[in-house]
Amino acid sequence: MNIFVAPDRTAAALRTADLVEQLVNATAPTALGIATGETMEAPLAEIVRRHRRGTLNLASTEVYLLDEYIGLQPDDPCSFANTVNRLLVEPTGISPGAVHGPDPHTLNLYAECAGYERRVRAARIQLQLLGIGTNGHIAFNEPGSSFASSTRVVRLSEQTRSDNARSFPDGAQPPAAAITQGIGTILMARELLLVACGQQKAQSVARAVEGPVTRSLPASALQLHPNVTVVLDPPAAALLADDARQPCRRNREEGKDFYQ
Ligand code: F6R
Repeated sequence: MNIFVAPDRTAAALRTADLVEQLVNATAPTALGIATGETMEAPLAEIVRRHRRGTLNLASTEVYLLDEYIGLQPDDPCSFANTVNRLLVEPTGISPGAVHGPDPHTLNLYAECAGYERRVRAARIQLQLLGIGTNGHIAFNEPGSSFASSTRVVRLSEQTRSDNARSFPDGAQPPAAAITQGIGTILMARELLLVACGQQKAQSVARAVEGPVTRSLPASALQLHPNVTVVLDPPAAALLADDARQPCRRNREEGKDFYQ
């Protein structure tokens, strides 16, 4: 696992965009898995900036979403599909058909989950961007999720709903259910890139990276994957063991980018 502690949140977004740019420019077509949420807003803005500048061309990239709320109206700005339209599709002009996600409005959600799982597997995701919940979830795989889980309907924890309420208009509560790729689905991606910023993520990051591998902390499943990069800002890295927390200084001395 490569751990990169950026000097600040902006540098973490730049580093994330660097890794996406390297992949997109080296492979075409590219299957890129993206997460939504506050953490991803700055990296996506940087990806859009580079696309406009012409250094990162998304023309042959297929984008796959990790998850989606169940119960929002199709035009609700808080749905992940609409968020990705606003943050990525509209500003880059990439084809909306190149963005894939589970459809929470179909009658048969179980068939939808099975179908989306098949599409993600067939896509062979090259790089999967991930955020992490304060409770250690990845996508919407809440504590207790099986590491072998596939795309399915899940109930969101009260912790997740209260954390995510900040993205909803005043007083509105996030839905209680969602469709999410499973941990088993996520682990099939060739490379995983977890991004976390802010002190509120420090505990789940430390448990994911240094704690025991346990289904009570879903992100600890990343320790089972052979190709994982974790990009943090200093507050999110604050509870890592000392030698992992100081990579920027060490790397400057050693002329290396990453603490390994
Ligand atoms: C959303 C997703 C979630 C978020 C996580 C962090 O697609 O997969 O796992 O990445 O909840 O969200 P933020 O970045 O809002 O703290």
